[in-house]
Amino acid sequence: MTADIKPEALSAADAAAELKRLAALLHRANTAYHTEDAPDLSDADYDALKRRNAAIEARFPDLKRNDSPSDQVGADPAEGFSKVTHAVAMLSLANAFEDADVVEFDLRVRKYLNIAQDAPLQFTAEPKIDGLSLSLRYENGVLVQAATRGDGSVGENVTANARTIADVPHRLTDAPDLLEVRGEVYMSHADFEALNTRQSEAGQKTFANPRNAAAGSLRQLDSEITRARPLRFFAYAWGALSEPLADTQKGAIDRLAALGFQTNPLTALCDGPDAMIAHYRTIEEQRATLGYDIDGVVYKVDDLALQGRLGFRSTTPRWAVAHKFAAELAWTRLEAIDIQVGRTGALSPVARLAPVTVGGVVVSNATLHNEDYIAGRDNKGETIRDGKDIRVGDWVQVYRAGDVIPKVADVDLSKRPADSVPFEMSGFCPECQSTALREPGDAVRRCTGGLICPAQAVEKMKHFVGRAAFDIEGLGAKQVEQFYGDEWIKEPADIFTLRDRYGSGMQQLKNREGWGDKSAANLFDAIDDKRQIGLGRLIFALGIRHVGDSSANLLATHYQSWNAFSDAMRNASEGNAEWDDLLSIDGVGAVMAHSLVTTFAQEAEVASIDRLVAHLNIEDAAAPDTDGSPVAGKTVVFTGTLEKMTRAEAKARAESLGAKVSGSVSAKTDILVAGPGAGSKARKAADLGIETLDEDGWLDLIATT
Ligand code: IVH
Repeated sequence: MTADIKPEALSAADAAAELKRLAALLHRANTAYHTEDAPDLSDADYDALKRRNAAIEARFPDLKRNDSPSDQVGADPAEGFSKVTHAVAMLSLANAFEDADVVEFDLRVRKYLNIAQDAPLQFTAEPKIDGLSLSLRYENGVLVQAATRGDGSVGENVTANARTIADVPHRLTDAPDLLEVRGEVYMSHADFEALNTRQSEAGQKTFANPRNAAAGSLRQLDSEITRARPLRFFAYAWGALSEPLADTQKGAIDRLAALGFQTNPLTALCDGPDAMIAHYRTIEEQRATLGYDIDGVVYKVDDLALQGRLGFRSTTPRWAVAHKFAAELAWTRLEAIDIQVGRTGALSPVARLAPVTVGGVVVSNATLHNEDYIAGRDNKGETIRDGKDIRVGDWVQVYRAGDVIPKVADVDLSKRPADSVPFEMSGFCPECQSTALREPGDAVRRCTGGLICPAQAVEKMKHFVGRAAFDIEGLGAKQVEQFYGDEWIKEPADIFTLRDRYGSGMQQLKNREGWGDKSAANLFDAIDDKRQIGLGRLIFALGIRHVGDSSANLLATHYQSWNAFSDAMRNASEGNAEWDDLLSIDGVGAVMAHSLVTTFAQEAEVASIDRLVAHLNIEDAAAPDTDGSPVAGKTVVFTGTLEKMTRAEAKARAESLGAKVSGSVSAKTDILVAGPGAGSKARKAADLGIETLDEDGWLDLIATT
């Protein structure tokens, strides 16, 4: 695979393909991080991809793309806020990863400015706060506008929200007539934990980390929600100014502090790379006890006149660099391996660790994925950790990068206890003692207990009340566990009889600990609200293996009504007409079809589903709205490699716009979408004079809807 080849070994053709792949991946990661506040890559993985992209561009400068990720700062601003064009662009920082890069930074600056090696040159060094940047505009000392970075030139207007942050002054005295103060909005660890506890108790979404919590809180359309979230702000830079703040970076920061802004107390003045690296180590040592997330140290040339001369590259200043911390690692003892049982019966081994601080977070659990991973094999059967297996009692290296769940990365065999034994996964479910089977080709062992397994039942119900499913306000994972534990609910249908059973009489919800008249009445009402439910949500809520929310919607659109769907599922069996019809849906493959049909073949499952459906008023799915679609009624063929989406996604999207997707080119074909590697179909289409588009052309065409 090209993705595994070192930049220096790539051919030009492979390099171009690789730059395209990296651009798509990084663009997707930027959107997930900046616009959706839901990162899909760890920071370390993101940085690695960016470095690979830069290395290939350095080797093949002519192949640098117009949409190169090196030139991108963030992502497009989200919908919903008005847009603000920054008077001075909000830029990003170049990264340094090793001490040598810091020495190199000093040399680069000197070379650019023609300053001799032995001449003095000062830098500031300060923590890089892991939050999101905010620009505050003051006119005549009054806060008039606050904006997020957005794509660097256009951000979102979050003025009302910024006004709710205690660290953001509304008025300044003795400030320049025009002053844009820039800095980082963040949330402390303590406030983040408390917020997540409140959110989960209220059955609301919890946040993966303080940065997401800060971003999600600042970018609320209702500023009263932001007010209730404990956000903070450190000032470290500025944008447009009517007069200079000082002659030096340090002087400017001191001036911002004097104006009433919080500035970071760990900001130091350093006289060269040795002092900068020493301050980096000091900050790194304090990282775990700071009480907020930082992900590196930022160095800036102190003299503002020199900053002015150094100026900017396309998206980063020449006068600053961010020295990032390495991925977070720590050694600790593996005390036990527990098995958790998921909604679909999957048995997942979890490492119970002697608690250890990894980059400021106390870690006591880590995922072990499955029995192969414990044995030292990855999901392709290749050896990992040099084939070292993981045993209870081992010293293990725990790895945490960004948001990902901690993993066990390495084992110290020299410290392995003499009496340790290889881990063996039991063939029985730890919760219900049913047989746990591992099917050929599946890395995961599964409990066969189905509904009799309490772990599966409770996980299924947590899924049932989840956000993309029934989303019942006041009924979150915690309440489901409590009600299940007390046998108030054993299956989803029981949720809909809670009012009848516990709204009056001997035992009442309002008398339970943590409940009262109002909260109990609210819950019963919230449940009643959800008796009316869309077909797609219901199908997803059933928690059938391999049926995610988008597949559930595909099924709903195809079958339209609950009766049509459930009849088809009950009657389908491999090879018959219902089965073929099910497989004809783009996005439904044999694995999903099999899972659906097996579920509906289980008497106990079907009886439980029927009991549930009796309480519901199920809305039929609407036929796709193809009004105004430029491809409605057209026959489209996809060929060659698609790079921005899978074939299944392309087909589903085309069909949702009213197109018919066919596998072969004929006189009836209206559009051929040809990616790289298209062969005979492209030639045939050319012979027939059929309109041919590349993937981007197709995306442009359908983007107009
Ligand atoms: S200076 C012209 N100082 O890091 C560049 N940025 O990766 C001005 N950040 O967009 C930025 N702490 O959101 C600067 N002490 C600090 C910072 C800092 C965090 C963020 C900022 C910036 C990003 C770049």
